[in-house]
Amino acid sequence: MSCVVVIGAQWGDEGKGKVVDIYTKQADVVVRYSGGHNAGHTVVINGEKYVLHLVPSGIMHKEKYNIIANGVVIDPSALIEEMEDLKTKGINFTGRLFISKRAHLIMPYHKIFDKFSENKKGSKKIGTTGRGIGPCYADKAARVGIRVCDLYDDEVLKEKIFQNVEEVNAIAKNVHNIETLDPQQIYDDYRKYADILSPFISETSYLINRLANEGKKIMMEGAQGTLLDVDHGTFPYVTSSNPTTGGAFTGTGLSPKFLTNVVAVTKAYTTRVGSGPFPTELLDDLGEKIRKIGNEYGATTGRPRRCGWLDLVAMKYSKMLNGIDYIALTKLDVLSGLDKVKVCVGYEYNGKILETFPPEIKILENCHPVYREFDGWKEDISKVKVYDDLPQNAKKYLDFIKEYLGVKYALVSVGTDRTETINLNEVF
Ligand code: IMP
Repeated sequence: MSCVVVIGAQWGDEGKGKVVDIYTKQADVVVRYSGGHNAGHTVVINGEKYVLHLVPSGIMHKEKYNIIANGVVIDPSALIEEMEDLKTKGINFTGRLFISKRAHLIMPYHKIFDKFSENKKGSKKIGTTGRGIGPCYADKAARVGIRVCDLYDDEVLKEKIFQNVEEVNAIAKNVHNIETLDPQQIYDDYRKYADILSPFISETSYLINRLANEGKKIMMEGAQGTLLDVDHGTFPYVTSSNPTTGGAFTGTGLSPKFLTNVVAVTKAYTTRVGSGPFPTELLDDLGEKIRKIGNEYGATTGRPRRCGWLDLVAMKYSKMLNGIDYIALTKLDVLSGLDKVKVCVGYEYNGKILETFPPEIKILENCHPVYREFDGWKEDISKVKVYDDLPQNAKKYLDFIKEYLGVKYALVSVGTDRTETINLNEVF
C-alpha cells in the first residue's frame, strides 16, 4: 500500500504539474483533492504543452485512474471545456476519469460575487483568479452549496438553485445594483452539464479506499501551495481550501493511514501571484530578469508572477506543516548565469531575528530577510542528468538547502521537458 502526496511548498506555481506527471508513471491513481480551476498545471510532453486546470495530470498516461475528489470545487462548464480540449488532442479518458458526487459545484453567482468582493476591497484586494472559488467554499461551509450528486435529482437541484438564486438576486438588486440572475436558465444549463458528466460521476471516497486496499499506488496532486492554505497560509491573502497534506485526506476521504511519503515541490527561487506579503520579493531588475528567464506568468490568468529568493524560513514552516520527506526542486536552470544566488535564513523584525513564520500580516510585510549568499554558476545545466555533473556552485547551493531543511531531494528539474530532470530518490 502506498500513497504519495505532492504539495506546493509556497504560494503555488512551483512546477507541480511536471513533478506529478513524472511520478504518475509509477502511480496507478492520480487524485486532485483541493482547489478548482484556479489551478493551472503545465505539462510538456514531446514538446507539446498541456495546461490542466481541474483534470489530474495523470490523464496523460493511458490506463491510470484519475479522480477529482470531494475537496475540489467544480465549475462544470470549465471542466467540460477541459475534457473537450483533451479529447481533441487525442487523449481518451473514458472509464478512467472519476468525479466525486460529494464535490461542490461552482455556480454562476459565485463568479459574480468573487469579482464584486474583490472590487469592494480596493487596494486590499486578494488578487483572486476570479473563478468563484472563495464564494463556492463559503457556501459549502455555510451548508447551502450545491453538490455534484444534486445534479442527478431534478427536484433537489431545482429547489436548491431557486432558493439560492432568490437570496443572490436580493443581494444583487439591493446591495450591488446589478442585473439579477434567471434561476430557470441556470437550472437548464446545469441539467445539460449533468448529462455530459454523468458517465464520470462516482462515490470516489469508496473508490479510492478500495483502490488503496487493493495495493494500488496513489498519488495526491496538490494544487496551489502551503502558504495559500486558508488555515496555515498568509491569511487573508490565501485561497479558500487546504492545499497542505492534511487537506489531501479530508479532500478525498482516503484514510490517512495509507500515507507513505510527502513530496514538496519548490522552485530554486520563490514566486507569488496576487497580493499579500512576500518577504524575499525582488522588486528590482533582478526580479524582472528571473520573471523573464523563468517565464513567470500565470498558467490560468496570464498574470506576471512576483519573483524573489528562496525563503527557507517559509520552507521550514512548510516542512513542519506537511511532514515533507522529499523535495522536488524545479527551475534550477533559471538561476544559471547569475553572479550570486541567495536564500533567506531568518527574518529581522524590530531588531530581533525571527526563525518562525509569523501569522501576523503586518510582521511579514515589515520584516527584512536575512540572506545567506552563494556564488552563482554560468554553465548551461539543462542537459545534466546526474547530480555530480552539476557545477560545483550549483551543488553547494542545493546541498545547503537540503541540509538546512533536513530533507532529501526526490529530483532536481533543469528544464521544462519531462526529460530535463535529475532523478535522485524513488518516492513510491
Ligand atoms: P482564489 O483561489 O482564486 O480565490 O485566489 C486566492 C489567491 O490564491 C490569489 O492570490 C491567487 O492568485 C492565488 N492562487 C489561486 N490559485 C493559484 C494557483 O494555482 N497558483 C498560484 N496562486 C494561486
